[in-house]
Amino acid sequence: MSTIPIIIDCDPGQDDAVMLLLALASPKELKICGISTVAGNVPLELTQRNARIICELAGRSDVSVYAGCKRPLVRPPITAENVHGHTGIDGFNVFEPTAPLEELHGVDFIIDTLMASADGEITLVLTGPHTNVAVAMVKEPGIIPKIAKIVLMGGAFREKGNTQPSAEFNILADPHSAHIVFGSGCHIVAIGLDVTNKTVATPERMRTIERIPGKIGQAVHDMLTFYDRKNPEKYGSFGSPLHDPCTVAYLLKPELFASKLVNVEIEIQSELTMGETVVDFWGVTGRRPNVHWAHQIDHDQFYSLLLNRIARLPG
Ligand code: BDR
Ligand code: CA
Repeated sequence: MSTIPIIIDCDPGQDDAVMLLLALASPKELKICGISTVAGNVPLELTQRNARIICELAGRSDVSVYAGCKRPLVRPPITAENVHGHTGIDGFNVFEPTAPLEELHGVDFIIDTLMASADGEITLVLTGPHTNVAVAMVKEPGIIPKIAKIVLMGGAFREKGNTQPSAEFNILADPHSAHIVFGSGCHIVAIGLDVTNKTVATPERMRTIERIPGKIGQAVHDMLTFYDRKNPEKYGSFGSPLHDPCTVAYLLKPELFASKLVNVEIEIQSELTMGETVVDFWGVTGRRPNVHWAHQIDHDQFYSLLLNRIARLPG
């Protein structure tokens, strides 16, 4: 497998943090051109700091972090401190990272990096609301042919929503940006709750994480202990789904996933169903297929990949 150049756009978040660790632990397969962050789980000042903290934790302060948009395009911001805590990565003992934030705006980093690349060279990994990428596409539509693929965590079809009955957090947080990205014509792989809800960090998996020697295993264990939904009556087990690392796992081992090329539209009209990913899974509308919609995952192999890779990071 040749090395895939990627830009990661995220809103850490404990599960974004684990996604970053998986990417940072995979330098043979992935070249991280930089990380942009966006307002999402917590405000932008925290998501950019959290990304720098995680790079430093992994011994990769050389990876540049850029701050992008502070709010969604149209709707008022929503955050998810109820899930992620006030820092976004509660459970972890946060510190002030030594590597500075880059001065360039995250949107301009995305534009400049893509415009300097060949057509179809760079893949985008999106694990937060889509504001930065949508604004980049509006500011410089010339980036669209440069994008090899967009692999994103977002949306729901069979599982329905986790933030509203019909809407998943990343899409609901900025549905107008998601509308732009899904309508861009780029090759899109969407990994939504249909798949990611199967990746629960069960007590058994948590015991395996706890046994990873060194500070990274400890940090992941601490973060995921906080991130646990702590409501087995409601969800059927202890633990929370590791949504965002599915994106990087897809790039490393696409064979762990099954997907279908279908039409997906984003609801931006109805307040009741705002942010719904309307997935034409059975091809009943005749609308143009625009998204590879992931619908299955080998979650045991996913955990085996994730934990093996994390154990490789310098402890
Ligand atoms: C998504 O929303 C966020 O809270 C998580 O980080 C993940 O990206 C799951 O719906
Ligand atoms: Ca996220």
